[in-house]
Amino acid sequence: MSLRWRLVAVLVGFTALVLLVQNVPLASYLRTVELDRIFTSLQRDAFTIAGLSIQVLEGEEGADTAALDKVVDGYGTATSATVVVIDSNGVVVAASDSSVGEDYSNRPEIQEALDGRAVSGERASQTLGEPLVYVAVPVRAGTQVLGAVRLTYPRSEVEAVVNSRVRGLLVAAGITLVAAAVIAILVAAAVTRRIRRLRDAAEDIAEGDLAARAEVSGSDEIAELAESFNTMADRVQHVVESQKGFAGDASHQLRTPLSTLRLRLDRAAELMDGDDPAVDQVDAARDEIDRLQRLVDGLLMLARADGKEHDVVAVDVAAVARDRVESWQPLGGERDVEVLVDAPGIAVAHAVPSAVEQIIDNYVDNALDVVPDGSRILVSVRIEPAGVLIQVDDEGPGLPAEDRERAFDRFWRGRQDGGGSGLGLAVVASLATASGGTVWLDQSPWGGLRACARLPQ
Ligand SMILES: Nc1ncnc2c1ncn2[C@@H]1O[C@H](COP(=O)(O)OP(=O)(O)OP(=O)(O)O)[C@@H](O)[C@H]1O
Ligand SMILES: [Mg+2]
Repeated sequence: MSLRWRLVAVLVGFTALVLLVQNVPLASYLRTVELDRIFTSLQRDAFTIAGLSIQVLEGEEGADTAALDKVVDGYGTATSATVVVIDSNGVVVAASDSSVGEDYSNRPEIQEALDGRAVSGERASQTLGEPLVYVAVPVRAGTQVLGAVRLTYPRSEVEAVVNSRVRGLLVAAGITLVAAAVIAILVAAAVTRRIRRLRDAAEDIAEGDLAARAEVSGSDEIAELAESFNTMADRVQHVVESQKGFAGDASHQLRTPLSTLRLRLDRAAELMDGDDPAVDQVDAARDEIDRLQRLVDGLLMLARADGKEHDVVAVDVAAVARDRVESWQPLGGERDVEVLVDAPGIAVAHAVPSAVEQIIDNYVDNALDVVPDGSRILVSVRIEPAGVLIQVDDEGPGLPAEDRERAFDRFWRGRQDGGGSGLGLAVVASLATASGGTVWLDQSPWGGLRACARLPQ
């Protein structure tokens, strides 16, 4: 699970826990309070009806029985309660249902009320078959109990009222949970967005953009991390650039003494007698100097290609290919090797200056090193949607797949006969990358190696 969703899960989970711990006791408390409130209000209504029943129950002359019936019926209709008014013998004198005249004296709550006590509670109904909530109160005139009033409600109705209150609590809890989830998502997004930016900066540096830096905002731990990251990137950039600078400077400084050394050896060779046994040694020394010079040139080229800023220019790759092939033909001709070109009239790509020449020269040079006498080397140029493709095919021994990757590493050489410096392909790769292109090696249909480069159009 990503950090973002983990944060959301923790925040929402915590909120749910708090709501649970808070709302479970609250819901049970709310139930009790609500039931109490209902019983109190029922009792108050029962006492009011009891007050209105006094005259009727006293059996006074002209007592308005019809008025009492109206009140009892009205209450029953308005509230879905069943109201019964009972005289001191337990006989129903007024009721919101059809129980007038029935004898309720054996019902425990009626007995209690006739004994002068107000009672409330729950019991199973004989008639309805579902639990009832009841309130029974005595009707008094002074100390004398004249009868009783009983209100009954189906328990389910009372439950419905209580449940609607508890449901309100649940809805509030649900809204709180949704709000917590939304806030958690926003907070997590804000935190992870900053971490993602830091990761992007790290990836940019890993891909070679040493100037990439993380954005520092705020003053919290993530901002501190971004600052530390930037300090580290500053140091890495400094170290890498000074190393590159050193390689470039050192190569540059070595060129002059090497040229002087070479001149001095040439001069020494001239002064020597042809039979002098030292001639061979001087010749070998001159070869070594040549090798050293190529190495230094390669290092200098690499240092330049790896430099920070590169201006890319438009180049007609087809024209360059024709020109370079023409230059290589005499050298190939010495060994009867045909250097051929297959290119369209024009193929414009974008590359750093001299990159195309260097790429073709290095590929052809490598091929000439390995091909047998009398074979062919083909430089082909093709325009493709992805860029301009340069391919150099030869009829040499080729390279095994695992070596084709490594061949672009600095100083990697397939043959240890002391020929090359192992920098040619590294220079090619650097120049192509600096131009926004790519390089790779493949098996040639001619049996040898196919060295490729693709440059953007
Ligand atoms: N066309 C090819 N066929 C077979 N092997 C090749 C070919 N091109 C390159 N290689 C192998 O890849 C190695 C690296 O080539 P790279 O051009 O980098 O160095 P190099 O040719 O040895 O030296 P230099 O720095 O003088 O070019 C070579 O030593 C060779 O073994
Ligand atoms: Mg080479």
